Amino acid sequence: MNRWKKRALSLSALLLAAAAVLLVFSLQPEIVPVTPPPASQFSAEQIARGKTLSALGDCSVCHTRAGGPRDAGGLAFETQFGTIYSSNITPDVETGIGNWSYPAFKRAMRYGINRQGHYLYPAFPYTSFTLSRDDDLQDLYAWLMVQPAVNYRPPRTELHFPFSIRQGMFAWNWLYLKPGPAPVNTQQSEEWNRGAYLGEGLGHCSACHSPRNLAGAEKGGSQHLSGGSAEGWSAPALNAHSPAPIVWNHQQLVAFMRNGYAASHGVATGPMAPVITDGLSQLPENDVQAIATWLTSFQPPWPDHGKEIGTQAGQQMMQADSPGARQFSGSCMACHAQNTGPTLYGVRPSLLLNSNLYSDSPDNLIRIVLDGIPHPATPGLGTMPGFRYQLTNQQIAVLLNYLRTDLAQRASWPDLGDRVEAIRQQTEAKP
Ligand code: HEC
Ligand code: HEC
Ligand code: HEC
Repeated sequence: MNRWKKRALSLSALLLAAAAVLLVFSLQPEIVPVTPPPASQFSAEQIARGKTLSALGDCSVCHTRAGGPRDAGGLAFETQFGTIYSSNITPDVETGIGNWSYPAFKRAMRYGINRQGHYLYPAFPYTSFTLSRDDDLQDLYAWLMVQPAVNYRPPRTELHFPFSIRQGMFAWNWLYLKPGPAPVNTQQSEEWNRGAYLGEGLGHCSACHSPRNLAGAEKGGSQHLSGGSAEGWSAPALNAHSPAPIVWNHQQLVAFMRNGYAASHGVATGPMAPVITDGLSQLPENDVQAIATWLTSFQPPWPDHGKEIGTQAGQQMMQADSPGARQFSGSCMACHAQNTGPTLYGVRPSLLLNSNLYSDSPDNLIRIVLDGIPHPATPGLGTMPGFRYQLTNQQIAVLLNYLRTDLAQRASWPDLGDRVEAIRQQTEAKP
């Protein structure tokens, strides 16, 4: 045998051995099934706390398919690796987590491994949930275990090879999972720590608001909370890179998280809306205040130019005469005029102060103009009609280009008309 062949052979032997070692280490034991714990095992306070934690974690947002029973799973998540379906997390013994002991539940939340010993995909944000303390996980478990059991088996998740091999998550976890609970930051106040605990842990803000690498893991360090995406929407940076023309302050963040609307920023429209409706708006006031304290600590100390921008833009909007400006006054002005007249319907978000105008991506604006806002984050905000059938791609592009260049004074987005067409097609099925 020549030298090269020998080398190739020993290399493959080495690779095989490595694969075998990986396999052995990645095997996780099944945790024995239990008979579902009786409701009497949990106190009413514990269950109530668990309910709030479940709201914060958006469990039902992801575990309920359209029109399906709450928490029974089956909602599809399209990822670049294939479609992942959320699991049934009702206490059904056959199809849900009814026979999961607390240690089995804790292992799923902290290490992303289910009762049967299978690795879970990070579409389930266990990389954030892992930071939760044991007492909170116990309360969450109590709440889930006293919910109505639903017998329903979600469709099977089958990703493209090699991601179809769940064992591969062993390596992924080794690289990207930092198991909790979260350490306390002694440099910061108690309130800041509470906010960080809620936002980084069950609140999983970074799951959408941080960019991800090719392996689908959140980028950390200075990229943490520097903007990401969710379901085709872009989630703006929440740190110093925030595109918002006015710095987010504590009071505005609290308003946004409670009501889905902050006067100097705007409304929650896309995937952020359910995060508020079913999550943040259900939290005790103190907790929302704490999250705001944590988030404001990342904001740069800019001066607040808000009022000035507002008046300037109001005037500009009245004066401008261009195809885009005319389109705006025809289609949008009735509800979005600046500082003039009474607000007749819902809130009147100032488009000028809206982060979407300052973002690198026009996608959120395109989506809002095409389909409107049929489901406001909280009822008082009103709904906005969609313009899918009223405006052509070209008209939408001209209109958005006007908002972008005249109002926001930013360089125009390239190929806007093509982008409108692409998003129109992507969203055609869901009116
Ligand atoms: C962003 C969407 C999302 C959120 C939020 C979410 N989950 Fe999930 N969860 C999933 C998906 C998707 C799966 C399936 C993962 C897989 O098949 O690998 C899953 C799986 C699970 C599993 C494993 C079940 C099993 O039978 O293997 C448990 C337990 C679970 N989630 C509990 C929760 C709890 C509790 C919350 C709220 C604190 C929550 N999830 C919030 C998406 C989510
Ligand atoms: C019938 C009134 C109405 C018309 C017409 C209207 N909007 Fe709206 N718009 C609203 C309301 C109400 C909201 C807030 C809805 C909510 O949050 O539930 C809103 C929200 C928005 C938002 C989200 C702002 C933010 O803070 O994220 C954008 C962007 C927007 N509108 C753009 C437009 C554009 C562009 C047009 C014209 C093509 C238009 N709107 C026409 C009522 C209207
Ligand atoms: C499921 C994904 C998702 C999660 C989880 C999420 N967000 Fe968002 N968020 C978005 C998206 C997308 C937008 C922008 C479009 C919209 O309103 O949906 C947004 C917008 C925001 C905005 C407005 C930013 C601006 O400049 O206009 C704030 C503030 C915000 N989110 C805070 C939070 C906080 C705090 C958390 C955690 C407690 C959180 N988000 C969790 C997806 C998410």
